[in-house]
Amino acid sequence: MFNVGDEVQDLTKPNLMCILDLFFNITEYVMAKVTWKSGTMLAPLPPALISCGTTDKPNVMTAAWTGIVCTEPTLTYVSIRPSRYSNQLIRETKEFVINVPTVKLAKAVDLCGVKSGRQVDKFTLAKITPAPCDKVSAPQVLEAPISLECRVKEIKSYGTHDMFLAEVVAVDIDDTYLNEAQALDLSKAGLLAYAHGFYYALGKQIGKFGWSVEKKSTKRKRAARLQAAKAAPKRSTETAVRKSNNKSAAKRRKAGEYGRK
Ligand SMILES: Cc1cc2nc3c(=O)[nH]c(=O)nc-3n(C[C@H](O)[C@H](O)[C@H](O)COP(=O)(O)O)c2cc1C
Repeated sequence: MFNVGDEVQDLTKPNLMCILDLFFNITEYVMAKVTWKSGTMLAPLPPALISCGTTDKPNVMTAAWTGIVCTEPTLTYVSIRPSRYSNQLIRETKEFVINVPTVKLAKAVDLCGVKSGRQVDKFTLAKITPAPCDKVSAPQVLEAPISLECRVKEIKSYGTHDMFLAEVVAVDIDDTYLNEAQALDLSKAGLLAYAHGFYYALGKQIGKFGWSVEKKSTKRKRAARLQAAKAAPKRSTETAVRKSNNKSAAKRRKAGEYGRK
């Protein structure tokens, strides 16, 4: 019952508490997450081609469980099941090469991840080329834009996988991806990513290291430099062909921390 003079809430007008309540309910609904016990859902990962053995008797397998451990010394790892032929080979030679995969290599990547070198010569099967390295006797994959030559420092068995911790002793870079300033520019390399069972072509470049806090003046200078580089005459076709034919002689450039130059 209402008495004369009572304040009556007009339910046709939105009330602040109702709006807030609705907002939090919607947010809760939109942002709902489920928690799984455990899993390997880190993504994207590079489905790297791990080459091992020797140039005379090479083998190559695909591994997504790989990454960088430390900048200086440059340490990396690859985790390989004991049942893999590559595990046996790397234990013997203590060397391997991590080859960065591209979209062009996607079929080879998949093939090297489903066939074993115990049964087939995967370099021939996948139509990829084993090329000699500078510091290790394991071969590199010539068609990969970047190959990291690795020497094993430690092997640790954790369960399903053995982790090969290794030092990167040299990096071979296809000089097609070195820009005018001799810095590594992978924007046109067509890098391949792996996410939870599927392969993806990496999308377009949307920023650079530190870009979120970059000053406007620095941004303007960078844009001007880019413009000038675009306007500069391109290297002659003859030089370009000679350079791309001479991949094994490509200069090894050490990328700065987190890939910056
Ligand atoms: C995308 C992809 C990622 C893979 N990642 C790994 C990995 O990180 N570690 C591993 O032991 N096997 C991995 N494999 C499976 C091996 O590549 C596969 O068993 C291969 O046949 C082993 O070759 P091998 O016997 O010649 O060494 C992966 C396969 C695919 C297709």
